Amino acid sequence: MADTITITDDRTGKTVTVPIKGGTFSSAALRELDPSLFMYDPAYLSTAACASAITYLDGDNGILRYRGIPIEQLAEKSTFLEVAYLLLNGELPDADQMAQWNHDVTHHTMIHENMRKRFVDGFHYDAHPMGMFISATAALGTFYDDAKDIFDKDSFDKQVLRLIAKVPTIAAMCYRFSQGLPFVSPNNSLSYGENFLNMMFRIGEDYKVDPVLARAMDILFILHADHEQNCGTTAMRVVSSANSDPYTATAAAASALYGPLHGGANEAVVRMLADIGTIENVPAFIEEVKNGSGRLMGFGHRVYKNFDPRATIIKKTAYEVFEVTGKNPLLDIALKLEEVALSDDYFKSRKLYPNVDFYSGLIYQALGFPVDMFTVLFAIPRTVGWLAHMQELLGDKEQKISRPRQWYIGHDERDYVDMSSR
Ligand code: CMC
Repeated sequence: MADTITITDDRTGKTVTVPIKGGTFSSAALRELDPSLFMYDPAYLSTAACASAITYLDGDNGILRYRGIPIEQLAEKSTFLEVAYLLLNGELPDADQMAQWNHDVTHHTMIHENMRKRFVDGFHYDAHPMGMFISATAALGTFYDDAKDIFDKDSFDKQVLRLIAKVPTIAAMCYRFSQGLPFVSPNNSLSYGENFLNMMFRIGEDYKVDPVLARAMDILFILHADHEQNCGTTAMRVVSSANSDPYTATAAAASALYGPLHGGANEAVVRMLADIGTIENVPAFIEEVKNGSGRLMGFGHRVYKNFDPRATIIKKTAYEVFEVTGKNPLLDIALKLEEVALSDDYFKSRKLYPNVDFYSGLIYQALGFPVDMFTVLFAIPRTVGWLAHMQELLGDKEQKISRPRQWYIGHDERDYVDMSSR
């Protein structure tokens, strides 16, 4: 069987045959056929917008790999900072590279005092932390003269380092502000996850991060670090394609992530479970979803049509966390919802399974995070993935500024009508 596809324009009888490579064929075939002809593909259901070597995802078989390494192995054996290095550099670091990377990230966690005093302090007392995070990430770039030098490798690498090191500090600062608590400075003797938990929750001198909880935080960060061309990463690539700086591009990606159909789902899941209230209410809620008057948040995925491997790991991690914190009372409702949905034809026929957000919120809540911090907890590790994609895009000779075409369905030409005649 030939690995080609042949397209015939029946209006003209013209035919082009092009190779199929990696499950894609080049849209140049269409331009060759007729340069005024475009694929109509709302929401990019059938469009590969780039070639990428970062993350492999096989939705039918529930496979997720970063740079070829299965997510299950990384969650079990690696650390978030090692995964960050892997995503950005393509290979696992050796001991010296890891020590250097660890040192570099740890020593860039501070943010300028004016970020807090003049910028964050300006928010309303009940501002949503994700809105603060997005604005603060964009604002951070204004503190660095070299933020826009994206084609100078040393400078770009420095911005990547700054962003990865400082997003937990920004996130914790937004939280402390919303609680009216004094800001806790980064502590260079702690790991990435421990330092974040310390900046979030330290009150007084005797706060100690529980190692089980710090490891759970690290696993959650690993699982969220990248997920190929999702909505936020696509936003990152589109904005980066205009050669914007990494800070504003990250803010744009985080804005996409904020939506309840994307990273905002973890917050929506916990609110949904709280609204359902008791196990007895689960069947009625499922009926509402099937009638179209509700949506089962944390279920379904554009790519995973079997199971989301991240959800499997998160469910296991949840039980480890609950050993330390006590069970989240919403867990029983979640388990019942999962059981009812997975045995119901509506969900089975549509291949709807729990996704990463179904159980992550329960862990975040058990760790003591307020619900409106959940999407920020997704944005911190995803910053690594966004930056890896920006770096890849900037080095990709086939890429240009993103500029899709449209199918115009408006009026034909018509004359302007004077106000007096309307
Ligand atoms: N509850 C009920 N019905 C659903 C759900 C759901 N969660 N998800 C999809 N469906 C139905 C949908 O109504 C449609 O039914 P029909 O064919 O009768 O019209 C069918 O399943 C196909 O859904 P779709 O909306 O065409 O699928 P999509 O690929 O466009 O959407 C999704 C994917 C994740 C946006 C969607 O499944 C959803 O809204 N899920 C809930 C929100 C959520 O959990 N989002 C987190 C995604 S994972 C984290 C991340 O990376 O963002």
